[in-house]
Amino acid sequence: MGKIIVFGAGGRTGRAAVGEALQRGHHVTAVVRTPAKYRDLDRAGVRLLAGDVTDTDAVAGLAAGVDAAIMAAYDPGAQPDVFFPAAAQALLDGLARAGVGRLVVVGLAATLKTADGTPLMDAPDFPQEYRPLCLAHAAGTAVLRTSDTTLDWLIVSPAGDFDQAEVRSGRYSVGGVNMASRISHNDFAIALLDEIDTPRHYRTHIGVEEA
Ligand SMILES: NC(=O)c1ccc[n+]([C@@H]2O[C@H](COP(=O)([O-])OP(=O)(O)OC[C@H]3O[C@@H](n4cnc5c(N)ncnc54)[C@H](OP(=O)(O)O)[C@@H]3O)[C@@H](O)[C@H]2O)c1
Repeated sequence: MGKIIVFGAGGRTGRAAVGEALQRGHHVTAVVRTPAKYRDLDRAGVRLLAGDVTDTDAVAGLAAGVDAAIMAAYDPGAQPDVFFPAAAQALLDGLARAGVGRLVVVGLAATLKTADGTPLMDAPDFPQEYRPLCLAHAAGTAVLRTSDTTLDWLIVSPAGDFDQAEVRSGRYSVGGVNMASRISHNDFAIALLDEIDTPRHYRTHIGVEEA
């Protein structure tokens, strides 16, 4: 049993992560920007707190005494190429100040590398309308990769996409990109929490899919 902070706890992935962490007996700090919108998260085992993941001081204060962090926030109202790098930097600096050792970030499948070593988003047939979001995620990843932080970070994304049917099979596998694959948010959350409870991947980006 540990203490886990989830940024973006009110979103689809964040909620699943909170649920999985509670099921495992963890204490959860659920961070949302507007707690009044997310009263249903306020239950036994959860501290529901207001915070902005791009604010270093807020991250440092909220994460004090916590063992590990999950970044599941996404702000469609912000410039994505500003949001993801700003969040990555605030998490690096804020979590380091708070003494948190492990950060698991929810990433984007299109930034995973294909067999020839190029990211999926660079494939000629990749839909161009998604490219700005892909580049923004990649910019956030670059902040982590180029940092000399001692924080033990990992990016986990679907290998393909989320399955909107909220099943929980309890099974997933880890691999590279596979756009045909799907994973439910609940099974994805199992992968997130496994990488916190028993870390197996470090300073890289993994894709997970339904097994
Ligand atoms: N195929 C793929 O690889 C794939 C598919 C889908 C999603 N994703 C990625 O998965 C991640 C999570 O997506 P999702 O669908 O779970 O998102 P979501 O349902 O839109 O939830 C995101 C949450 O983040 C919160 N948030 C926004 N700005 C914040 C801030 N500055 N500080 C703290 N919280 C903030 C939002 O709450 P408020 O606005 O109420 O604060 C919202 O509840 C994203 O990075 C997304 O790109 C990947």
